[in-house]
Amino acid sequence: MKVLIVYAHPNPQSFNHAMLEALQHGLHKAGHQIRIKDLYDENFDPVLRASDLERLQSGEVPEHIKVEQDVLLWADSLIFLYPLWWFDRPAILKGWFDVVFTNQVAFAFNDQGVQGLLPHEKAVVIITAGGSEDYFKHTDAMPLIHRPVTDGTLGFCGIKDVQHKIYFDVPSLSNDERQAILDDIRQLGQTF
Ligand SMILES: Cc1cc2nc3c(=O)[nH]c(=O)nc-3n(C[C@H](O)[C@H](O)[C@H](O)COP(=O)(O)O)c2cc1C
Repeated sequence: MKVLIVYAHPNPQSFNHAMLEALQHGLHKAGHQIRIKDLYDENFDPVLRASDLERLQSGEVPEHIKVEQDVLLWADSLIFLYPLWWFDRPAILKGWFDVVFTNQVAFAFNDQGVQGLLPHEKAVVIITAGGSEDYFKHTDAMPLIHRPVTDGTLGFCGIKDVQHKIYFDVPSLSNDERQAILDDIRQLGQTF
């Protein structure tokens, strides 16, 4: 399978980056083809500008958007990996969706309403959080965190199999607990 990993963490020394490496390792072992979209490393511009919107609305796709969409559509499946920031994606990733998931490529409207156009077999969303599992499970935080990405974006655009995974308490985990997460992620890649 061709797998695109969309990764959003600014620090190459972070635990998220260690997870990215574990994920790559697992996917490689299973024989998948991988592409990584490391948004900070690429200095991705997450702002959908008025000029882009104007061109999109007139049916023209600006070249910098087309390049991103070619990578998106190269993949059979998608994996997103990022830290939870303000109950949401880091802004650079939110902007990637704004810029890349355009009308006529990711979705379209017709007589029956909205139609998701993305052909991907599945998407997995992996998130790390600073908060505790106890906190999240006893508030309405979980749907608040997951729905904008799973239903509001990926499901909306036609991907039927969207899974998500969240790891809690990440800044205060012991080395053994971190290792267990990395094993889990490697396994996820290997069985993807
Ligand atoms: C700007 C910012 C916003 C954050 N917002 C949240 C939040 O809303 N909920 C939460 O549980 N953790 C939040 N955190 C904590 C991060 O999710 C946590 O530190 C990160 O997942 C740990 O992974 P890392 O070591 O790879 O950075 C936030 C951190 C930053 C820097």
